[in-house]
Amino acid sequence: MAGISIRGLSKSFSSRDSDVAAVADVDIEVKDNSFVTLLGPSGCGKTTTLRLIAGYITPDRGTIEIDGRPLSSPGSVVPPERRGMGMVFQNYAIWPHKNVFENVVFGLKIRKLPSASARRKVEEALALVNLSGLETRYPSELSGGQQQRVALARSLVVEPDILLLDEPLSNLDAKLRERMRLELKELQLRTGITFVYVTHDQAEALALSDQIAVMNLGRVQQYGTPFEVYAHPANRMVADFMGLVNLVPGKVRERSGAGGVVEIAPELTVKVDALDAFAPGETVEVAIRPESIRLAASPVPGGTWATISNHVFLGNISEYFATLASGLTLRVQTHPLQQLKVGEACTIEVDATHCSVFRAGAGEAKAA
Ligand SMILES: Nc1ncnc2c1ncn2[C@@H]1O[C@H](COP(=O)(O)OP(=O)(O)OP(=O)(O)O)[C@@H](O)[C@H]1O
Ligand SMILES: [Mg+2]
Repeated sequence: MAGISIRGLSKSFSSRDSDVAAVADVDIEVKDNSFVTLLGPSGCGKTTTLRLIAGYITPDRGTIEIDGRPLSSPGSVVPPERRGMGMVFQNYAIWPHKNVFENVVFGLKIRKLPSASARRKVEEALALVNLSGLETRYPSELSGGQQQRVALARSLVVEPDILLLDEPLSNLDAKLRERMRLELKELQLRTGITFVYVTHDQAEALALSDQIAVMNLGRVQQYGTPFEVYAHPANRMVADFMGLVNLVPGKVRERSGAGGVVEIAPELTVKVDALDAFAPGETVEVAIRPESIRLAASPVPGGTWATISNHVFLGNISEYFATLASGLTLRVQTHPLQQLKVGEACTIEVDATHCSVFRAGAGEAKAA
């Protein structure tokens, strides 16, 4: 069992030029045996949060508990080696002058394990990450992905209850990242270790996580399942960060039941099913995903005329920019076999039923 409770966690740094609230009032519950990702742009406080969980930093405020056992508070921090955690660092730093076996066995040597059982555990850890047989190779004789897996094996060999991973795939090429992504997920399911994973890559977070904490400016903007943060973003920062989105200003025209109608251009209104918080006439911002808009070359009843102003072919999808007569341009994603030319007229239909509506000018939660 290793669930983590993080409550009111805060950490500021003072440097010559300024004070930075690196982590501000972070609350996260990590369930035992789950995969939780801290996701956000550079500098949003991901590594600092992970280092606080690992016990390398003392919080200014707040607490970290594992299964009810206090590990960190401003007054006392259980040191990293006594927390039952492994950590894969952002630069994964394996020792270049040690071979694979020596890199992986290191943590067991520190724990003074007899060499026969240490050897067995290293073999098991290397098998878990598909590196069996490469024990005597040096890092310079390994691919980037293999070096990455050495770093993983090194943290797995000590049999942690919790594994903390800081952007572990960031140095790999796109294809390898994708494969390692699947391997990591399988590894988590097979070992039952609780993973806390840091990335700034939203696709990686969506693919891997049970829960995602989207962070910005030191604060958790939203904590939810991949579906929740993608389909029901809590604010415009989350909507924007979780993939491509059209964030367009609009005005509430009608309210009925929980929903209503929002005008996003003189010739385009959209039906929205969750407008409880807004009154007719209110100015809002509507987040519409590019895949929620359909294009047709011929007129469609209820559709709105637009002109294709740009086109990007991406292989598995086609991306179009459709500009309305009033000047509003919307980004649209379609099946790649649908082919329209730049300058061509088309009709667009917006399926905004499930889109998100935010109060105009309401930003994300900011550091105090
Ligand atoms: N030791 C430190 N001293 C001063 N400021 C720091 C220190 N560590 C981090 N910071 C600042 O705290 C903020 C959060 O840093 P952190 O390393 O947690 O970000 P991050 O989300 O991991 O970013 P990245 O994606 O670039 O790794 C940044 O503004 C950073 O400059
Ligand atoms: Mg970082």
